[in-house]
Amino acid sequence: MIETDRYPLVQRLLHWLIVILVLGVLAIGMTLGFLGFDGVKETFGGAATNALYAYHKTFGVMILALMILRLGLRVSLGAPPYRPPLATSEHVASRVVHGLFYVALVAMPVIGWLATAAGGYPVQFFGWTLPGLIGKDQAQSETLFFVHGVVGWAILGLIVLHVAGALRHWLVKRDRVMARMSLFG
Ligand code: HEM
Repeated sequence: MIETDRYPLVQRLLHWLIVILVLGVLAIGMTLGFLGFDGVKETFGGAATNALYAYHKTFGVMILALMILRLGLRVSLGAPPYRPPLATSEHVASRVVHGLFYVALVAMPVIGWLATAAGGYPVQFFGWTLPGLIGKDQAQSETLFFVHGVVGWAILGLIVLHVAGALRHWLVKRDRVMARMSLFG
């Protein structure tokens, strides 16, 4: 049970590290999704295209590992109490958005991993190639990449809701909710 009204430093560090990684992976993913392989290659050249795919996969797998660690800490340590307590509507809204974040940020890399493997492409993690876990199946790969795209938009929607909520607490209500996850102050 956490005694203060802030998350322990390790959980705050994990939160902001995952923010940076998710924004980077989303930006690269959207670029790959909008332009497609040929469009990316035409725009950025062959070497940069390979690097963008490799970075997307590597940082995506890192998000999966960090999210599993984060989920373990959240379950074992719990969350600090809100002081003063949130209104019921705020409590429900934040629980739903935070819950969906956990599900989406674990599911998204797993779907990307399986889609990549089913397409016959390497699951790159820095200089290594991780096991594909499933066999090659073009139709399955296309379905999984479609779901990967849809969940990407859902994550973007969650980010908008989450940031709007945080800004409301920070700038309008001026309570201590932002301090719970802040690295400063
Ligand atoms: C939280 C982690 C991840 C996020 C937020 C994310 C996000 C995205 C997004 C938004 C797209 C564009 C989809 C579209 O519009 O069609 C994309 C494409 C892609 N993702 Fe991910 N991704 C993640 C993890 C992964 C992982 C772990 C892998 C593989 C190991 C992966 C492989 C790919 C590939 C190969 C594409 C390009 C698909 C294409 O060329 O059509 N992703 N990703």
